[in-house]
Amino acid sequence: MTGKRRLHQQISAHNPGKIAVSDSVLSIRGLSKAFGGLKVLTDISLEVSQGEFITLLGPSGCGKTTLLRLVAGFEKPDRGSVYLDGVDISSLPPEKRQVNTVFQSYALFPHMTVAANVAFGLELKGFRGRELNDRVNQALDQVRMRELADRYPGRLSGGQQQRVAIARAVVNTPRVLLLDEPLSALDARLRRDMQIELKRLQRELGIAFILVTHDQDEALSMSDRVVVMQDSRIAQIGTPREVYEDPANLYVARFIGDINLFPGTVIGRNGKNELQVQIFDRRVLARSDKALQPGQLVQLLLRPEDLRLTEDAAEKVPFFWGSIMERSYRGSTLDTTIHLDAGPVVRACEFFDEDDPDFDYRVGERVKVSWVQGWEVVLPDEDPTH
Ligand SMILES: Nc1ncnc2c1ncn2[C@@H]1O[C@H](COP(=O)(O)OP(=O)(O)OP(=O)(O)O)[C@@H](O)[C@H]1O
Ligand SMILES: [Mg+2]
Repeated sequence: MTGKRRLHQQISAHNPGKIAVSDSVLSIRGLSKAFGGLKVLTDISLEVSQGEFITLLGPSGCGKTTLLRLVAGFEKPDRGSVYLDGVDISSLPPEKRQVNTVFQSYALFPHMTVAANVAFGLELKGFRGRELNDRVNQALDQVRMRELADRYPGRLSGGQQQRVAIARAVVNTPRVLLLDEPLSALDARLRRDMQIELKRLQRELGIAFILVTHDQDEALSMSDRVVVMQDSRIAQIGTPREVYEDPANLYVARFIGDINLFPGTVIGRNGKNELQVQIFDRRVLARSDKALQPGQLVQLLLRPEDLRLTEDAAEKVPFFWGSIMERSYRGSTLDTTIHLDAGPVVRACEFFDEDDPDFDYRVGERVKVSWVQGWEVVLPDEDPTH
């Protein structure tokens, strides 16, 4: 129950996602890219701090891989530039940029041992003998693969191959490591282990990581900041809490986490931070400092954990009648699907409390659905096709 409201005020005050340019190790400024007339990236700007863990989150085809390829130098932008430590690297070839990429496919050389795979890039750069060995061993230690240095990739598990791919990138001591869905081929359990490993490695190396993922849980749990992409643009940059608790628009709200939406119309404003909103047959008060005008169509966003079910909601708390459609026990929480009399189906997620008799709802039972006041987010309604 802590902090949700407080965070909201902090966000408004501090302008999320902005950091001083002087902190930046990587600075992406106004990048645009089209392939054969199709806009793949439009005016992308992002400042990445030293040692920061950034994730790029977005649906297939929104331009995540293309953005990494522009940063790494495998593609040329139509417009915009990339700076590393304040130096414009836009016209440098990939091998001259202190940026390395770990690809989803790992791309290991099958005919070379683990150690030879890791050494390959350094050899091209002219490293030999003792120094080469030391650096390869250090990189293998960092990913805990020293014992398997003489194996061939074909005899490694997916997770082990992934570690070699990471060692091959970090052996070049990049300023920024780019990771394009590196965990997507791993099963759920291994994926969680590798997430923890990656965080550890990033802390040890102290370099910036930019990780591409489809997986919102991965993005929220691993990142200092999340970049949510929508089509070819950035929809929001913020800390995991900011994008979850104060999404910039309905697209971000839908993309990250589960949501319940209550459609409404703005009736008026009470002071700076409160709106009167008509929702179905009720007028409710909702916290919002957004510039929303009377008559404007909005959606009241409530996460499943914001909703409360009761048979006797206190009179002042707004509530909607509904019928229980489904209850599912999930260990620490109890999830409930409710069909509201006004039409929508909503989902509530409550911490399991066996001493509370209210937890005995049966399918079909009538309940009042209310929410924790102040936890609602009001967003302008928008065409869902955008
Ligand atoms: N070299 C290319 N030539 C033509 N079109 C391309 C090229 N590379 C990417 N595209 C197109 O650009 C768009 C964005 O591709 P990109 O690979 O960046 O998406 P993504 O966000 O990484 O998707 P996914 O999550 O599926 O990996 C897609 O429509 C893709 O078909
Ligand atoms: Mg991709």
